Amino acid sequence: MLRRALAPFVVAALFCLVAPVSSQQRGRGAPPPLPEGSGRELVQAKCVTCHQTNLITNSGGYNREGWDALLKSMLNLSADEAPAVLGYLATNFPEKPRPAAVVIPGTATVSIKEWMVPSLGSRPHDPLATPDGAIWWTGMFANVLGRLDPKTGAMKEFPLNTVQSGPHGLTNDRAGNIWFTANSKAYVGKLDPRTGEVTEFAMPDPAARDPHTPIFDKTGTILWFTVQGGNMVGRLNPQTGEIKLVTMPTQGARPYGILMNSRNVPFFVDFGVNKVASIDPNTMAVREYPLPNAESRPRRIAITSDDMIWYSDYSRGYLGRLNPTTGEVKEWPSPGGPQSQPYGITVSKDIVWYSESAVRPNTLVRFDPKTEKFQTWIIPSGGGIVRHMMTTSDGNLVLACSGVNRVALVEIR
Ligand code: HEC
Repeated sequence: MLRRALAPFVVAALFCLVAPVSSQQRGRGAPPPLPEGSGRELVQAKCVTCHQTNLITNSGGYNREGWDALLKSMLNLSADEAPAVLGYLATNFPEKPRPAAVVIPGTATVSIKEWMVPSLGSRPHDPLATPDGAIWWTGMFANVLGRLDPKTGAMKEFPLNTVQSGPHGLTNDRAGNIWFTANSKAYVGKLDPRTGEVTEFAMPDPAARDPHTPIFDKTGTILWFTVQGGNMVGRLNPQTGEIKLVTMPTQGARPYGILMNSRNVPFFVDFGVNKVASIDPNTMAVREYPLPNAESRPRRIAITSDDMIWYSDYSRGYLGRLNPTTGEVKEWPSPGGPQSQPYGITVSKDIVWYSESAVRPNTLVRFDPKTEKFQTWIIPSGGGIVRHMMTTSDGNLVLACSGVNRVALVEIR
């Protein structure tokens, strides 16, 4: 909730380069004051150019090395400033107890490679693997889309036309264009990477204020997307530019992750309630599938080749599977426990992969539906909340490590 409320503000601060004091005043409510101590003024001056100090006071805290690693993803401190800033933060905001990453050994082997993206503090939200082998990301707070060639490490960032767009979700069409949702500026965008040209498709209804996750249907001709706060699902025809929106039957459903099943039907999860839902591609009638536990908050979705729906239950720390034909649900407690916050999830070769976003460091989790066995790995950078992941055409995984400003490639052997 806090993050959501802050996001537009953070973007505004990045682009207007507003003065620290006024940015504090313009935030929603006064942030808590930083405790007295040597280095306080420096932290106050350096850290509020992009966000308020409540990100610091509400964070889980770190030791000195942890603060050092985190800050390197946000700003460059000079050799004069760094010791005072790190000393102040480590003393006043030491590491709080967090659910620890639970490492479960197994027979699968992975190699995880990570790259820091060029714009510091850009918070890569969603990743995209394209058929040419590139890894794309949305630089949500830097207002760019980025492209990485994992073979050479070469990266390029593409600026958007509208400031503070809040680029969030990503998908690609067959012609090689990259499509994204502008979460803060209520449009769906298309980037032609050959020219850098961006085309915007504005939402026809102001209530559709925050387009969230886009996905092309199996024919590649219709773009479906969720609208989280606006509580809608939308359908965009790229040929005509026409957008149709449907409001959810459940108030506060907050449609979030979305994917097509094998029959070209969009399935999505409702992050505001305990429901999975689907939408008829022709009539746009919404069908809801309630999950058994009222506390469930499914955040992202994955689908196996048998059209079973897999979801990361963020609030309860479970991996779940819904059979949409029978409505039957089966759940497995995530290795990191009830507070582990499973988030980004995908399927590769009918194995389920996801990340626990609240254990420190974040984990990569593998679940084999046949044996019902888990295997887990630590994400080297810590992950910093892996909000989304996707499977490449050769069965590897791409991850966006938002809080540590990185994208990752997981090669599965
Ligand atoms: C260039 C912009 C920028 C600057 C300058 C900046 N940050 Fe951040 N910071 C970010 C962004 C972007 C996020 C991600 C916010 C989110 O995910 O909601 C973030 C998140 C954080 C978080 C939350 C992450 C966590 O793991 O708890 C903390 C703590 C933090 N910043 C501390 C600081 C401190 C301390 C400073 C000053 C030394 C600083 N930031 C300066 C951009 C910046």
